Amino acid sequence: QAFFRPIHNTAPPSPTNRHTKISVIGAGNVGMAIAQTVLTQDLVDEIALVDAKPEKLRGEMLDLQHAAAFLPRTTILASSSDYAVTSGSDLVVVTAGARQIPGESRLNLLQRNVALFRSIIPQLAKHSPNAILMIVSNPVDILTYVAWKISGFPANRVIGSGTNLDSSRFRFLLADHLEVNAQDVQAYVVGEHGDGSVALWSSISVGGVPILSFLERQQIPYEEEMLESIRRTVVEGAYEVISLKGYTSWAIGYSVASLARTLLRDQRRIHPVTVLAKGFYGIDGGDVFLSLPAQLGRGGVVGVTNVHLTDEELRRLRASAETLLELQSQLGL
Ligand code: NAI
Ligand code: LAC
Repeated sequence: QAFFRPIHNTAPPSPTNRHTKISVIGAGNVGMAIAQTVLTQDLVDEIALVDAKPEKLRGEMLDLQHAAAFLPRTTILASSSDYAVTSGSDLVVVTAGARQIPGESRLNLLQRNVALFRSIIPQLAKHSPNAILMIVSNPVDILTYVAWKISGFPANRVIGSGTNLDSSRFRFLLADHLEVNAQDVQAYVVGEHGDGSVALWSSISVGGVPILSFLERQQIPYEEEMLESIRRTVVEGAYEVISLKGYTSWAIGYSVASLARTLLRDQRRIHPVTVLAKGFYGIDGGDVFLSLPAQLGRGGVVGVTNVHLTDEELRRLRASAETLLELQSQLGL
């Protein structure tokens, strides 16, 4: 109780019935980009941070708290050892773990990050049994499967950030090429986040104009080389950023904040994210997680959209599923 009160109360504080909480596990480059984007967008009442490095974690918490005068009112908590700080989360975002060094592939991180997930996920599930789990650590698709297995959560509440980021890179490059606003470009990258991703040319439309069928009808030869070079640039995008600045952070921060908004505010928007893909698009070899355009809401994954894929796109998507299934089967979960 404060002795000095600057306000003369005329009524008891009204009980608030809206309380929304996000926990971010891993307060590194990615975790902090997500936390700060979520904060500035006024998405939650409480953010809990967890990281294995107590000093770095406390420093990050204080630094964000010191911005209180410029931000919506949000409680910021942190703990390096006690997962009780995450109790009652609506959304738990996992970014903890090893990241790539320049030139290293995402899949190379698998063994290290699976070991980490075995220690982290049970504690998160225990303290927030009704949360949606959002996996960001790499390799994100297989780790989403690992989190689903270890947590015992229903598949609709275990999601990976997946190709929401690759799709934004794709839309940026297309917008740049076509000289339009990226928000007016609808285009999906699906499948494995990163190296095995599949760009859906047939999904590209700008302001309602379907680009490929428009080009076909106008008898304009496909700008095949240009499209292929855009696809390659999407795949190489993260490697380029990592070789230049050491890690990627801002784009994934915005990507996850947009997913958090759709989930927590029940926006029912469609995002390409990592979901249990079994039974869709002829993927039937097992419980594989990869990105498909999915409708998201307060309960997690509401549905998977039925986009028209060309035969070649289907072939690539199924090949991506086979690669991931093979790796998953070696984990013994
Ligand atoms: P970072 O090294 O800056 O941060 C990782 C943090 O995890 C460190 O602060 C570390 O102390 C913490 N950590 C390690 N073990 C822990 C444990 N047992 N409990 C709690 N915290 C622990 O790495 P950065 O750049 O933040 O990347 C994090 C992960 O995100 C990497 O796996 C990276 O590949 C992935 N990533 C995924 C993206 C995506 O689109 N899915 C995009 C960018 C990065
Ligand atoms: C990305 C990370 C490295 O920015 O997966 O794509």
